[in-house]
Amino acid sequence: MKSLQHLNKYFIKYKWHFLLGILFTIVSNYFGVQMPLYVKTTIDSLMQNVQIKSVNDALWVSLQIGGFYMFLSLCKGFFLFLMRQTIIVMSRHIEFDLKNEIYDQYQKLDMSFYKKNRTGDLMNRISEDVSHVRMYLGPGIMYSINLFVLFTLVVYQMIKISPSLTAFVLIPLPIMSYLIYKVSAKMNFLSKKVQEEQSLLSTIAQESFAGIRVIKAYGQQNSTEKKFNQSSDNYKNKSMKLVFVNALFIPTILFLIGLSTILSIYLGGNMSFNNEISLGGIVAFIFFVNNLTWPFASIGWVTSLIQRAAASQQRINEFLEVKPEIKSNDNQKSFSFQNEVTFNEVSYTYKNTGIKALNKLSFTIKKGETFAIIGKTGSGKSTILSLLLRQLDPSSGQVSYDSTDLKNMNLELFRNKVGIVPQEVFLFSDTIKNNILFGANNNSATDAELKECCVTADIHDTILSFEDDFDTVLGERGVNLSGGQKQRISIARALLRNPKILILDDCLSAVDTETENRILERLKEKSADQTTVIVSHRISTIRNAEKIIVIDGGQMIEEGSHESLLKNKGFYYDMYQQQLNEESNANSED
Ligand SMILES: Nc1ncnc2c1ncn2[C@@H]1O[C@H](COP(=O)(O)OP(=O)(O)OP(=O)(O)O)[C@@H](O)[C@H]1O
Ligand SMILES: [Mg+2]
Repeated sequence: MKSLQHLNKYFIKYKWHFLLGILFTIVSNYFGVQMPLYVKTTIDSLMQNVQIKSVNDALWVSLQIGGFYMFLSLCKGFFLFLMRQTIIVMSRHIEFDLKNEIYDQYQKLDMSFYKKNRTGDLMNRISEDVSHVRMYLGPGIMYSINLFVLFTLVVYQMIKISPSLTAFVLIPLPIMSYLIYKVSAKMNFLSKKVQEEQSLLSTIAQESFAGIRVIKAYGQQNSTEKKFNQSSDNYKNKSMKLVFVNALFIPTILFLIGLSTILSIYLGGNMSFNNEISLGGIVAFIFFVNNLTWPFASIGWVTSLIQRAAASQQRINEFLEVKPEIKSNDNQKSFSFQNEVTFNEVSYTYKNTGIKALNKLSFTIKKGETFAIIGKTGSGKSTILSLLLRQLDPSSGQVSYDSTDLKNMNLELFRNKVGIVPQEVFLFSDTIKNNILFGANNNSATDAELKECCVTADIHDTILSFEDDFDTVLGERGVNLSGGQKQRISIARALLRNPKILILDDCLSAVDTETENRILERLKEKSADQTTVIVSHRISTIRNAEKIIVIDGGQMIEEGSHESLLKNKGFYYDMYQQQLNEESNANSED
């Protein structure tokens, strides 16, 4: 239960909701208790002095009694409404705050956190776990307060009427609470299983919709259907079990209510023969016992609800307590880059797989130059870029800008000056304009700036050819762009922040060589003092770079300009020959 202490700060924040909620609960229950008492006094006085002489008299008396009873009932209902309006509303406010707190934490955490955790888990914390916690904050707390207040008021009145009868009729109630607790815990357990099956089922459905082209192309409809049916079957079986336990819930309560009522009537009847209790007293008892049953039933339910909330909050706390491994330095020194970036004996090992991606790598990138990294797939190129951007910290060695270690810089100010086009382009389901503006610092730019970046990335004409040009919506229900178009939008996005360093990770792979050359030339023209780091498999992409390094197995095996590397007749030369051959083969096939 300790994990739930995290929520105390929210109770303090919403203290007025909470305190008023308690007050309304007390007032509502006060009227609730007056109702049976009123019935009791009415019956008793009617029994003692029957003065009704005509039908009109009888009508008048019953109208009076009925009217007052209705008034009490209305008052009880009104305050019940206010009780829900304060406590349940509080729980919704806290739910909102808690979701924001978790999301905020997600945004603070670095890439290594996301590598360790599955998307499904991240989603569950923010949706399912928070909703479990809310059940505790809302109904859980409301029913607990209600039970406490009601129990005090009702039992006080019952003892005033007859202490011994009170003792007898209360006996079945704790048994009921225990049984309900057991049934609720079983229900929670089973509904968790049902939920798991359901999310499995939706994953299968979702994947088959996303991959429908591949499924149809390979003629795998039947096997996909079989997989779905099987999962659907599992879901049904688990649901049937839940239905069975659910069905036990209400009968258990009704049976025990019945038992208490019978006890009240039987024992009360016996006592009334001995004049120990009035007829009105017995009726009031039956009312009281009925009033107590639901709150007692709720003890069991609320207990299992709190247990579930504690487990969920525990998982949420584990996420909230994670500290980002990459911490920004808080100094406000703006990022300036005058001379060079240096990698000094940098090694990097991926912790999760133990793969040593870089091994004692040293090189220097001069300001204003185009610096290219080439190498086979898996050689460590993207890892170099992650270190350059401080998405990762070196396992050993240093990355420094103008001899300031990157670790000592304010990350936000640094990243504002860097434009990155990642290897895997990601575009949001939004308009083209907003997707590009995403790159601008402050998300704003003039139309002229937007146009200029799109022209440089060679995507402007394509955008204008769409019906809604810049307002064209991308994504599932919008326009689907080709791989090369996406890459170029992503380049425009990076250019819009007017970066001091532009990093292109193999982002022209889906663009033909002619367009590629055009883009590279324009980039060169655009800004002489912008440093560009470009990663590629294709020599044609990087041949004009001032400096090229060749990476293999996380180590630098060659460096120099295109010409000097060719003269070396090493790895680069072989690669070049191979690519020339492939190209001429491709041309002869045309
Ligand atoms: N997130 C990761 N977790 C574990 N290992 C990784 C991770 N990312 C990369 N690696 C490993 O590190 C090595 C270098 O990967 P990297 O992505 O830097 O290669 P690359 O040169 O960019 O390849 P490509 O040209 O295919 O993009 C590979 O062996 C890869 O398996
Ligand atoms: Mg890569």
